[in-house]
Amino acid sequence: MKYIDEVDVKGKTVFIRVDFNVPLDQNYNITDDTRIRAVLPTIHYCLEGEAKVILASHMGRPKGKRMEEFSLAPVARRLAYRLHKKVTLAPDCVGPEVERLKAEMKAGDVLLLENLRFYPGEEQNDPKFAKELMKGVDVYVDDAFAVAHRAHASVEAVTKYAPICVAGFLMRDEIHYFHRAMEDPARPLAALIGGAKISSKLTALKNMLKNVDKLIVGGAMANTFLKAKGYEVGQSLVEDSLLEAAGDILAAAQKKKVKFYLPVDCVVADKLAKSAETKITPVQEVPKDWLIVDIGPATVTLFGEALQNAKTIIWNGPMGAFEYDAFSRGTMAMVQKVADSYALTIVGGGDTDVALHKAGEFQKFSYVSTGGGAFIELLEGKKLPGITALERWAKGHPDV
Ligand code: 3PG
Repeated sequence: MKYIDEVDVKGKTVFIRVDFNVPLDQNYNITDDTRIRAVLPTIHYCLEGEAKVILASHMGRPKGKRMEEFSLAPVARRLAYRLHKKVTLAPDCVGPEVERLKAEMKAGDVLLLENLRFYPGEEQNDPKFAKELMKGVDVYVDDAFAVAHRAHASVEAVTKYAPICVAGFLMRDEIHYFHRAMEDPARPLAALIGGAKISSKLTALKNMLKNVDKLIVGGAMANTFLKAKGYEVGQSLVEDSLLEAAGDILAAAQKKKVKFYLPVDCVVADKLAKSAETKITPVQEVPKDWLIVDIGPATVTLFGEALQNAKTIIWNGPMGAFEYDAFSRGTMAMVQKVADSYALTIVGGGDTDVALHKAGEFQKFSYVSTGGGAFIELLEGKKLPGITALERWAKGHPDV
């Protein structure tokens, strides 16, 4: 694919697809603006190059209807603060008012369009909607890695209507680090995978077995593996329908000589609540009325030792129900272990980066992906529509 720094943007209207789908509290205050900060380099590059900058994003899932709670107004304010300049929020993303605002733009202006998902055409990858979006646009830039797994109009169909289609700097970093981790890694390559369900990561786990030297599994998904191995896991979250699939993964790991690590001890609780009674126990001794809520200290030591000689670590998913402080120690301890390692460390997935922020260790990681679902799909070995569309465009335009 082509990148934004291969294009002269002077005087041009540049449309940047970003992912400003940021978390908000009940008063519509942004609680984490990582995704906004992540695209500032691309925006600055265009502004310094004297382009007119149009930004477009989705927010939440309004399902094709205008819903004020999904407005990008809070983003416009935060973006103006981060850019130190005026950001005009358009009342819509297409239509006569947007065309008027576009026509009035001067070099160095920033226009943020309203939520793309207020129109059903966005998620339907509707060519008519895409054409509307690209009216008057000279250069389309995709810097929305976190939505690259969606074949939506502003990600996919637009590349058939914009004269020039390139990727931004965030997209470049995301692809670069993923490649370094999964396609051309310094070995040993270890994957630390957690989270609640195997079902959401089954394909990713299978695909990773082709590549990793060590697979370390924590979080509630480890329960299904433990049960598949014959352990009693009490009332713990288990996906019974996937016991066979979990067994197959264990067998495949053995066959491929991938070192597979599961918890050896755990924190158990009598209920999943702040007020729960808890204790630490070996995985062989989970009381039948209790549930596993975190990895235990012996597991932290084991996982830490397994990571010690790794030259590349890829991490996705927490080690326990870390949204409860009492059950977050395992995840927090693994944040330290990974942060203190000498490996290239790559983290993906919403929950995991919340843990890094909570531990105040964000800066110690080599790369933290802005993608949740998109990152998992890369781990699954899938081609992302957003990336494929840019590659296809570049193939048809070798000289740009
Ligand atoms: C995300 O937060 O993962 C992206 O913004 C994609 O959002 P979606 O899952 O609603 O498509």
